[in-house]
Amino acid sequence: MNITLRENIDWVGYVDWTIRDFHGYRTEQGTTYNAYLVRDEKTALIDTVKAPYRQHLLRNVLALTALSGIDYIVCNHAEPDHSGALPEVMAAIPNATLVCDQKCRAALSGYYDISDWRIRIIASGDTISLGRRTLQFVETPMLHWPESMFTYVPEEKLLFSMDAFGQHYATSQRFDDEASLSNIMAEARTYYANIVMPYGARVAATLKSAAGLDIEMIAPSHGLIWRSHIPEIMKAYGNWALCRPKPKVLIIYDTMWDSTGEMARAILEGASLPGVEVQLIYIRSSNLTRIAAESLDAATIAFGSSTLNSGMMPMAAAALTYLKGLRPAGKAGFAFGSYGWGRGGPEAIDEYMKAMKWEILRDPLKARYRPTAEILDECRSAGKLLATKAKDLAE
Ligand code: FEO
Repeated sequence: MNITLRENIDWVGYVDWTIRDFHGYRTEQGTTYNAYLVRDEKTALIDTVKAPYRQHLLRNVLALTALSGIDYIVCNHAEPDHSGALPEVMAAIPNATLVCDQKCRAALSGYYDISDWRIRIIASGDTISLGRRTLQFVETPMLHWPESMFTYVPEEKLLFSMDAFGQHYATSQRFDDEASLSNIMAEARTYYANIVMPYGARVAATLKSAAGLDIEMIAPSHGLIWRSHIPEIMKAYGNWALCRPKPKVLIIYDTMWDSTGEMARAILEGASLPGVEVQLIYIRSSNLTRIAAESLDAATIAFGSSTLNSGMMPMAAAALTYLKGLRPAGKAGFAFGSYGWGRGGPEAIDEYMKAMKWEILRDPLKARYRPTAEILDECRSAGKLLATKAKDLAE
């Protein structure tokens, strides 16, 4: 299944319909590994696919050209979902030159035996002429690995953007105007939150330099290709890079005997003000991927856990550890939860929130064994505080 982006520029990747766990990322809608073939006087393969799908890639390429006709293989990113097929591809096309930057070469040498590979090291601003078309390289370090790179084809106003602007979304369609835009944007948001969020400052800088490129099409390495909704995804990336909040309250919790659950629902009640979106996530019936996605644009977050063994519950700890690594910035919130004869759950959450430099709106809200009517009233008031603060932060 090859799809034409421009004359003699084709998608030759693989649609992974069944994957549901992508190194821990819950890929509810599968994913794609996008690779592209640019045929000109010289021919270039832009990236490869995950190792198990190398034969699919080679078959897609062979449908368009003889393998011996490939001159360059560009590696925009060394992560194995895009480089895994390289050993077999390089063996199948021994005359091809691998094109990558210095850091990519170092990473590839850590994964594979590259001693026999012909490699051309390029850097930002370098170009390779294919004939009528040119490959122009733009290094984008830490978007999201040190060696990440874009490849731009100025004659076609086409940007191969690697993971940036991607989505884990398996579809039979290849372009953004062929599938549901709201689904694509939702998957792009989830992707950004889980993969790119720690590097917001780099994203902002990259968007600034990308603004200097004339772009009519963005071909990422996962999901749909952007050709009709480029302003929308650019604007969304601009907002996400700054962690710009919406008037949105998130209440995340784990509970043993539903005392913390009862508190969470009282906070939800108090936070449900007009003009404010409120979401309640019970950690054990959700997943880390969704928690990260919903945190990206939430202005305020209440995080709760019952006390277990003088600390928080293990899934609450997992969620906070994951969030801390993703560094969602500029949030405000508070901790809550229940305890019995020992203390420590809400207090441990409070410490995490402080470590993430969130604004702490109040001391941890606690209930011993079961929340009393007074505590539930306090929860409603705290919910209202969250909603009011969310509106302020989103202005
Ligand atoms: Fe899709 Fe960072 O690899």
